[in-house]
Amino acid sequence: MNALEPRSSQLDGWTFWELDSVASTNLFAARLPAWSAVRADTQSAGRGRFDRKWVSDRGGLWLSAVVPTRAASLRFLPLLAGLAVCDVARQLGADHVRLRWPNDVMVLDRKLAGVLFDHFKPGLAVIGIGLNVSNHPAIEDASLKNQAVRLADILPSPVACEALTTPLLGRLRALVESWNLGETGLLLSRVNALWDRPRRVELELNGVSRAGWFAGVDEDGKLLLSDDLGVSASYNPEQVLQLIETHE
Ligand code: BTN
Repeated sequence: MNALEPRSSQLDGWTFWELDSVASTNLFAARLPAWSAVRADTQSAGRGRFDRKWVSDRGGLWLSAVVPTRAASLRFLPLLAGLAVCDVARQLGADHVRLRWPNDVMVLDRKLAGVLFDHFKPGLAVIGIGLNVSNHPAIEDASLKNQAVRLADILPSPVACEALTTPLLGRLRALVESWNLGETGLLLSRVNALWDRPRRVELELNGVSRAGWFAGVDEDGKLLLSDDLGVSASYNPEQVLQLIETHE
């Protein structure tokens, strides 16, 4: 497909753009209306959280979705994307996927997918999903050799990015609509079932670190941390520069 002439089609309630290459699908999505989605084969400037670079080589699923938001939901939306990825991966037979706060999808200690949430316009959120499928991220960044995992490493048969897009967008739409209708309790418990708790963690905040037991998230998507005396504190994703799982 010619990158200079992006084309859209209708896909299960989404206006869907497919590109060969783009700087970042989230930035492309910034100007699109609700229920638009964009997938690119490669990203030349894929973005991770905290302005980190996201390696986006061919063979991975680089997808952004524009969804309507309700005021209170902003921090919970990225968790719905993680839940959608887990649901689709499990349908394909990847039984051991789990979440790592705030919204990484993991298999054991390796990262399968990451989610980047952007809020460019009031009332709309862009949810970017980067899912390693059959790409080779360690070729570009050797440190990913022991940190990343791909669907190709854990599924018995190969799956194409194109075949993942429709179920993933379908799942995401159902979850976001359910959240926007106020069905928060069920979704909160579904997300909280995916953390692989109890887990000892260390949080790197701005200049200080905090250790404790990860206790899931609340309705605002805040991390709940309890200390050994059972005292709880909560943290926003922007406050926590890094969460280290300490395996105690
Ligand atoms: C992270 O774990 O740091 C988030 C990674 C998010 C990567 C995806 S790929 C599709 C979308 N476009 C981007 O530039 N980033 C997100």
